[in-house]
Amino acid sequence: KGRFSRFGLSFAAIGGLALSYGAYCELNNPSSNQLPFGDPSLPTLVVLGAGWGSTSFLASLDTENYNVVVVSPRNYFLFTPLLPSCTVGTLELRSLMLPMRFITSRKRRAVKFVEADVTDVDPVSRTVTFQDNSELVGTVSKALVKYDFLVMGVGAENATFGIKGVKEHGLFLKEIWDAKRIRQKLMDCLETASFPGQPTEEVDRLLHMVVVGGGPTGVEYAAELRDFIVEDLRKWFPDVVNRVKITLVEALPHVLAAFDKSLVDYTERHFRQENIEVRLNTMVREVREKEIVVAEKVRRFVTETGEDGKEKVVEKDVLETGTVPYGMLVWAAGNATRAVTQSLISKLPKEKQNQRRGLVVDEHLAVEGAERIYAMGDCTATKYAPTAQVASQQGKYLASLFSDRGRKIRQLASAEGKNIQHACDEVEAKEGEKTFGYSHLGSLAYIGTDQAIADLPGGVRVAGAATYLFWRSVYLSNLFTLRNKMLVSFDWVKKTLFGRDIARE
Ligand code: FAD
Ligand code: NAI
Repeated sequence: KGRFSRFGLSFAAIGGLALSYGAYCELNNPSSNQLPFGDPSLPTLVVLGAGWGSTSFLASLDTENYNVVVVSPRNYFLFTPLLPSCTVGTLELRSLMLPMRFITSRKRRAVKFVEADVTDVDPVSRTVTFQDNSELVGTVSKALVKYDFLVMGVGAENATFGIKGVKEHGLFLKEIWDAKRIRQKLMDCLETASFPGQPTEEVDRLLHMVVVGGGPTGVEYAAELRDFIVEDLRKWFPDVVNRVKITLVEALPHVLAAFDKSLVDYTERHFRQENIEVRLNTMVREVREKEIVVAEKVRRFVTETGEDGKEKVVEKDVLETGTVPYGMLVWAAGNATRAVTQSLISKLPKEKQNQRRGLVVDEHLAVEGAERIYAMGDCTATKYAPTAQVASQQGKYLASLFSDRGRKIRQLASAEGKNIQHACDEVEAKEGEKTFGYSHLGSLAYIGTDQAIADLPGGVRVAGAATYLFWRSVYLSNLFTLRNKMLVSFDWVKKTLFGRDIARE
């Protein structure tokens, strides 16, 4: 009897486990966990991402006529142009962050925010599947939402070009946690180099800071690092600071390909004066734990056999490979398409989606070959550069397009009694709607020692200390809220009065 009841108990336990596992699977089966949301008489507008495009879209959108759902793994907007300043403590990370709920809570009609990664967009069933990938996950971590319109603003990830070792040993500079890691690694290199008895060769390796990519991210980071070394570390690490070396490695013949040549020359000259070694025509081929493998294009005299069979000496470009030891490696080699974007591209007709850089969109930012999907910013492949300026103008444009459409849909559905899906299809026709037009306001970059460069419309190119003040005022005025403007201003004052903090978190 005892054995029987024990068996009964175990059976019940197994049954209970099976039932709860079944319930768990059911809960985590996205199709059975559809987001119940909003007013069924309104179309659902799903927005992906919390970056420049999506935030500018949400800030300007009239939400009255939609059920708006925002899905992003980051629950804040990040002001990326000042991110390099956080890697050395010129600015604090939170000064550049703005919670998404701050933006969504200010809308007239409630907007639902979900912190999750979108794992799949199905253009046929018009659904978006998302998953909570945060550290703490509840019983339910996957869900699905059906959209009537989808706006993609998922940005891009860091390009590694499949180069071996980049992901394992390199540090990126795109997100808040990247800036934090760079700051930690830099301090670790300095403290380890200061360890008693550290051999000179090892000190030199630990204090060699290599930045790969001479685009604006790499240049601005190298500039901030140089400021930190000269303005602060000299005081705190007098024994080793003179051995710190910064090298900027760029595969092309010059840095800052998108800037005017006069500003490029100015920057390269300025870097050399400030002891930042600029290695041009040098491609990183592999990243190892303590060294990188580079191939440098150099001009050499070589002996060749001519058509007449005679040997002659000619001058030509040859590739020379070598290794460079490093302590910290920051990888700023540009953008690559995110998996969620690639997956959507693969589901659309190849003749319409033929770009590896991202989604091809038309002049209304509608994704080619898809219905009711729109995209903006770094996840698209357009004639514009992947910049915050472009993404925010596209977000604003789409907000105006969707605000007008929302009003039209409501009118078609309520006044003319049309079915909501027919009303959505009708406004998708796009006739007479304004197309997207980009207005370039200029490019700015900080190059260190309180100097900046500005490539402005109308061929205005300026560089130097006054341009730095202009750079500061532009970014300060572009910060979204008064709170962020005040925090950034306080950080600048704090740095001037007390210097940067060197404590390792
Ligand atoms: P992002 O701003 O990158 O936002 C993408 C959003 O999508 C993020 O919220 C992300 O969390 C979210 N997301 C990611 N994966 C998923 C997913 N699977 N599902 C849902 N959401 C997802 N541009 C300038 O014009 N001027 C500058 O001075 C400048 N400085 C820069 C400095 C740095 C260090 C960097 C890295 C970039 C800089 N840029 C600058 C470029 C600019 O930041 C980008 O072009 C801009 O952020 C693109 O906006 P976006 O909305 O397309 O993407
Ligand atoms: P980028 O694409 O502008 O530059 C990357 C650089 O890395 C290129 O010059 C490329 O030649 C180089 N590179 C690539 N692989 C390499 C390798 N293996 N070895 C050596 N060099 C290699 O990327 P970045 O700087 O991250 O910028 C991305 C976008 O963000 C750009 O559109 C840029 O304009 C924008 N941005 C603008 C800023 C500003 O206006 N101040 C600041 C930062 C970014």
